[in-house]
Amino acid sequence: MADEPKGLARNLTNYGDSEFSIYLRRSFAKSMGYSSEILKRPVVGIATAASGFNNCHRSTPELVDAIKRGVLASGGLPIEFPTISLGEAFLSPTSMMFRNLMAMDVEEMIRAQPMDSVVLVGGCDKTLPAQLMGAISAGIPFIHLQVGPMMTGRYQGERMGACTDCRRFWVRFRKGEIDAAEIETIEVTLATTAGTCAVMGTASTMACITETLGLSLPGTAAIPAVHADRLRAAEATGRRAVTLAAEQLTPDKIVTKGAVENALRMLLAVGGSTNAIVHLTAIAGRAGIPVSLTRLNELSDTTPVLVDLKPTGANYMEDLYAGGGVGAVLAELKPLLDLDCRSVAGETLAERLARGVGYVDHSIVRRFAEPYQAEGGLVALFGNLAPKGAILKRAAADPTLFERHGRAVVFSSLEDLAKRIDDPGLDVTADDFLVLKNAGPLAVGMPEAGYLPIPAKLLRQGVKDMVRISDARMSGTAYGTIVLHVAPEAAAGGTLALVETGDRIELSVKNRRIDLAVDAAELERRRKSFVAPTPPERGYRRLYFDHVLQADQGCDFDFLTRR
Ligand code: FES
Repeated sequence: MADEPKGLARNLTNYGDSEFSIYLRRSFAKSMGYSSEILKRPVVGIATAASGFNNCHRSTPELVDAIKRGVLASGGLPIEFPTISLGEAFLSPTSMMFRNLMAMDVEEMIRAQPMDSVVLVGGCDKTLPAQLMGAISAGIPFIHLQVGPMMTGRYQGERMGACTDCRRFWVRFRKGEIDAAEIETIEVTLATTAGTCAVMGTASTMACITETLGLSLPGTAAIPAVHADRLRAAEATGRRAVTLAAEQLTPDKIVTKGAVENALRMLLAVGGSTNAIVHLTAIAGRAGIPVSLTRLNELSDTTPVLVDLKPTGANYMEDLYAGGGVGAVLAELKPLLDLDCRSVAGETLAERLARGVGYVDHSIVRRFAEPYQAEGGLVALFGNLAPKGAILKRAAADPTLFERHGRAVVFSSLEDLAKRIDDPGLDVTADDFLVLKNAGPLAVGMPEAGYLPIPAKLLRQGVKDMVRISDARMSGTAYGTIVLHVAPEAAAGGTLALVETGDRIELSVKNRRIDLAVDAAELERRRKSFVAPTPPERGYRRLYFDHVLQADQGCDFDFLTRR
């Protein structure tokens, strides 16, 4: 069999004459000032997701410069190209709706353009999962480089970091404890540098998962965005991308069942974001590896929370970096991990850990025998209200609310919630369960609306937490006794669609159950009045509506996940 084309000769434009295609391509490349000699080098694509609408990726240009330095030093030719960028706070109705669009962009641009390997630079919540999903499907060797987390800011002597502290102060503002002038002052102290949110939110969780999967260089996940070490990591990533291409270390050799289970353990041990289970399911799905919520529960029972970071604990990502990073967590989890998994560095996890992990601050990364919490951060719940599962972040919830029966107070949509939640006449007590319907993937792209606000009148009475249930997601930086990702969602005709105010709901975290205590005949009667949503007329939103899978399957498109 003839050798695969390399470098600029890969993926030729089809004019019906391949010699003409490469001649024309070289000619056009030379219009950018490249010499004949450098055009013979292996090509390392650098997929960037910089955008004026993405604050988290502000440092991308200097990272790209450092990656290019590494590629050139190792004999490769770095070529940067843009993809869609998903800035979490700048997209309507929600960035989640566009994760699959970005994954398609990444996959197709890797596949269509001439490159032997690719470095993907990103980090904001949906960007990183989209990059991994697309690159795994494209199948050529790749390395991910996260932009890194923000540093903390200060407000009146207190450390502040997006976005757990954003929510804490917003609750105080809603309670009337601080006024509009103060909340505006606080606004400028929450996100003070380039980089992703400073706590163990979705972006940080996904960064830790990416390193654990073996898809970024060891030791890089927690380096702050503005730290010089991140530039050195970028240079090393560029260097490694050249040899990775020569070794043909493709993602199918890295993203194995063992690597996915290791990543699930990491998610649980860092007290990570609920969103990460959806993203990891979608990422593993691109490699043909199913992630089951039942298995999540098994792992959760045997994986303690080891990392003391907000929103579960008290610290920030910069502390995790100084305290030993992902390597320190892996070392504590070692007896539970598949040590044969290989990373983009070319070594196995056993080889990585055999080198030692250096200094560890055990007040940040607890020892396995003295964990921060004895059990994993997330659990899946099942029952007639969520036959395909729902997720609760028990690490950031109030355990006194775990074994409860409650009266449902139902909101039929996000609009209904916004209209009535602070109505002084709302019939609600602290013992009720707030239920939000029609906020799932089919309905509105599954926004981070599952952190239902405590009704203002209860807030003023000092209520800090209530059971809240929805088919929405929740920001990884949020906290509370919040049941999310109910599947099937209301808009898909799930039982959630049939809940009415006044119904009893039974929650048992111990038994992993969530049930609607309404008899089957009554539910059947209600089901006759269910009205399915109207599909959007055209474009990407129609594609999304027709093909998005439910949360338990990662919300990927049915035609993109590998069966
Ligand atoms: Fe980008 Fe939080 S907004 S990571």
